[in-house]
Amino acid sequence: MINRILTPRELIVGGGSIAQLPALLRRLGVSRPLLVIDPGVLKLGLAEPAIAAMRAAGIDLDIFAGVIEDPTDATVDLAVERIRGSNRDSVIGFGGGSAIDTGKAAAIVASTGEAVHALKVPRIVDLSVMPFIAVPTTAGTGSEVTRACVITDTQRQEKMLILGTAALPAAAIVDFELTLTCPFRVTVDTGLDALTHALEAIINRNCNAHADALASSALALIGAHLETAASEPGNRAAREAMMLGATHAGLAVSNTSTALIHGLSRPIGAFFHVPHGLSNAMLLPLVTAYSLSAAPRQYAAAARALGWAAAGDSDEHAGRALVQGFIGLNARLKVPTPQSFGIDGERYRAVLPEMARQALSSGTPQNNPRVPDSDDIIELYRNAWDGRVPVF
Ligand SMILES: [Fe+2]
Repeated sequence: MINRILTPRELIVGGGSIAQLPALLRRLGVSRPLLVIDPGVLKLGLAEPAIAAMRAAGIDLDIFAGVIEDPTDATVDLAVERIRGSNRDSVIGFGGGSAIDTGKAAAIVASTGEAVHALKVPRIVDLSVMPFIAVPTTAGTGSEVTRACVITDTQRQEKMLILGTAALPAAAIVDFELTLTCPFRVTVDTGLDALTHALEAIINRNCNAHADALASSALALIGAHLETAASEPGNRAAREAMMLGATHAGLAVSNTSTALIHGLSRPIGAFFHVPHGLSNAMLLPLVTAYSLSAAPRQYAAAARALGWAAAGDSDEHAGRALVQGFIGLNARLKVPTPQSFGIDGERYRAVLPEMARQALSSGTPQNNPRVPDSDDIIELYRNAWDGRVPVF
């Protein structure tokens, strides 16, 4: 079997590594970057040392702080205008997944001249674009190492998936010190997103030895450290482990693609603005229970990597422990159901067919060990509403 493994050209990992940003830009041969940043992150001053270091190094920096949560095609177009208007040669995405994905999409659109919606799957955007450098401030999305970004189509109210080497950062700086002030909810939601990436890599129909090793590492790190990072924000060891776990999960999933949880999660986010990691978490126990019988060995491996089953446990026992483990973790980390999140039940039921259509057209449910049809997906959404996890 031939596997095509994609990673950024440079990954600089470790506490304090943000100081190396000016040297990294020099190695990439760029000197006029656009810094695409979350306004909240800018206000917190997290980027100040990096901005000062770049200016001191003579780098001609422009800053775009118009990033919004669930970034849209309109946000991307604004960033593209800045790239063109001030003649930028590169983009730095600084913040959570929204800032990184906005920066990725802006670099692609500015380089190719194509509209955002022309780039979405099933097209694979394997194109050469201006260098994009990712600096995550959360341990979760893995977007700093993936060849994927998600942008909302404002007209169709659909989260578009853009896949291909054009969306793969040229480089990333993975500095866990940038996550030390990350609040509880964001730590949990992004951490559960990373956990979902690792799980969806390990059980994926496209899984390979490379992704499997990285996903196992990610599950071990996240299983051991997520709850500590959430309850003790300043715990450096937990934050460092979570950052590494999220990056390993991103590397794994970038080389397999996601599966059914992400497929079902994106429409929930698009229609009801549930944070991405949270809508994944709402689906974790349910979709695992639904899929278990189709890949018992892989789900058992995930349970063992998380530390929820022992090496000597049968796959069947480990699979059940995985579902129960996700139910318990969600309860301890206060993950709501769509109902308790406050979504309007009537509207939820009304859009189920369109959510199912969007889920299937994203292509990722087809990577799941058990592949649902539209009716199955609607039934899964119905069960997810109040957190029911039937025996499948
Ligand atoms: Fe994700």
